[in-house]
Amino acid sequence: MSELLERIEGFPRVSLTHAPTPLEPAPRLGELLGLELLVKRDDCTGLAFGGNKTRQLEFYMGAAQAENADTILITGAVQSNFVRMAAAAAAKLGMDAYVQLEERVACVDDTYHNSGNVLLDDLLGAHRLSYPEGEDEAGADRALEELAKTLKDEGKRPYLIPLAPDHPPLGALGYALCAAELLEQRDDVDAYVVPSGSGATHTGLLFGLRALGDRTPVYGVCVRRAADLQRGRIARHCAAIADMLDLDVTVDNTDIIIDDRALAPGYGQLNKPTFEALRLAATMEGLLLDPTYTAKVLAGLIALAREGTLALDSRVVFLHTGGQPALFGYEPVLRDWLGRSGS
Ligand SMILES: Cc1ncc(COP(=O)(O)O)c(C=O)c1O
Repeated sequence: MSELLERIEGFPRVSLTHAPTPLEPAPRLGELLGLELLVKRDDCTGLAFGGNKTRQLEFYMGAAQAENADTILITGAVQSNFVRMAAAAAAKLGMDAYVQLEERVACVDDTYHNSGNVLLDDLLGAHRLSYPEGEDEAGADRALEELAKTLKDEGKRPYLIPLAPDHPPLGALGYALCAAELLEQRDDVDAYVVPSGSGATHTGLLFGLRALGDRTPVYGVCVRRAADLQRGRIARHCAAIADMLDLDVTVDNTDIIIDDRALAPGYGQLNKPTFEALRLAATMEGLLLDPTYTAKVLAGLIALAREGTLALDSRVVFLHTGGQPALFGYEPVLRDWLGRSGS
C-alpha cells in the first residue's frame, strides 16, 4: 500500500460513499470539443442524491464519531449541497443536524429559498437557521461556535464542520483517496478538470495524484472566488494536507492551475457559457449538471478546449461533483435562460 493510503488509514472515517464511481465516456460532447472526454461520475456517490461532499463527509463524520458527538453543525449557501449531504449523513448515523444557510447569492426568489436542497434539508430533519452574510466565512463559523456553546450547555455533544480556510482540510482526504481510485481506473489521462470552491476537492485530487507520483495537470475552475484568492487558498491547503499526513510532498505553486473565466457575475449566478454548458451536457449526453458548480466547470473545460490549452484529441476527465437538486431551486432562473435561448 502507498504511504499516502497508509497515512489516510490513520484518520477516523465513516463509510458513506458508493465507490468506485463510474468513469464513463462522453463521446458526443467529446467529439464536439475535439477531445476524448471522460466523466468521473461523483454525482453517483450515494447519500441523498450524492455529490463530491460524500467523500469529504466520511472524514468529518469519522472525526465527529471519534469525539462521541451527537450533533453536527454546518454552514453553507442556501442551496448548499454540502449542507444537504451533511444532514443526510447525520440522519443515517442517528445524529442531530443544525444547518445554517447563508445569503450568498443576490437576486434570488422564493423558489431558491424553499425548493431544491432546502426542501431536502427539511425532509432530512435538519434544524434550519439562517445567516444574513454570504461572504463572511469566519463570521459564519463564529455564529455556529456560539450555537455549539448553547447546545453544550443543554447537554448536547456538538461537532462543528468548519467553513473558513484556516482549519485543516479534513475533507480533502476524501479526494486524495479519489486520486488513487482514478489511477486504478485509468493511468493514461492527459488532464483533469475539477471545481475549485472551498478547495477540498481540488486540493485532495491534486495532492493525492502528486503523492502517488502522477504528474497529470489538474485544472481548477473557480466557482466561488477569483483566481488570485483561490490560488493562495489551494497552496495553503496543499501545505496543510502534507502536514496532516506528515508526508514530504510539496505541491509547487506552478502546479496549481486556476481558471476563473466562468465565474462572472459571481458565486451561484449563471452566465451564458455556463448555461450553454449545462444545456450541451443535457442535450448531447443526457447528463444533468447544476448551475452553481458543475456547469461552470464544464464551461471552463469548454473554454480550455476551444483555445487549445486542452490539446486536440487529448484524454480529459471532467469531474462531475453532483449538485443537481439545486436545479429545482433555480427553476425560474433556468426557465428564463431557456426562454432567452429560444428553447
Ligand atoms: C456540487 C458541488 N460541486 C463542487 C463543489 C466545490 O467543491 P469544493 O468545496 O470541494 O471546492 C461543491 C461545494 O460546495 C458542490 O456542492
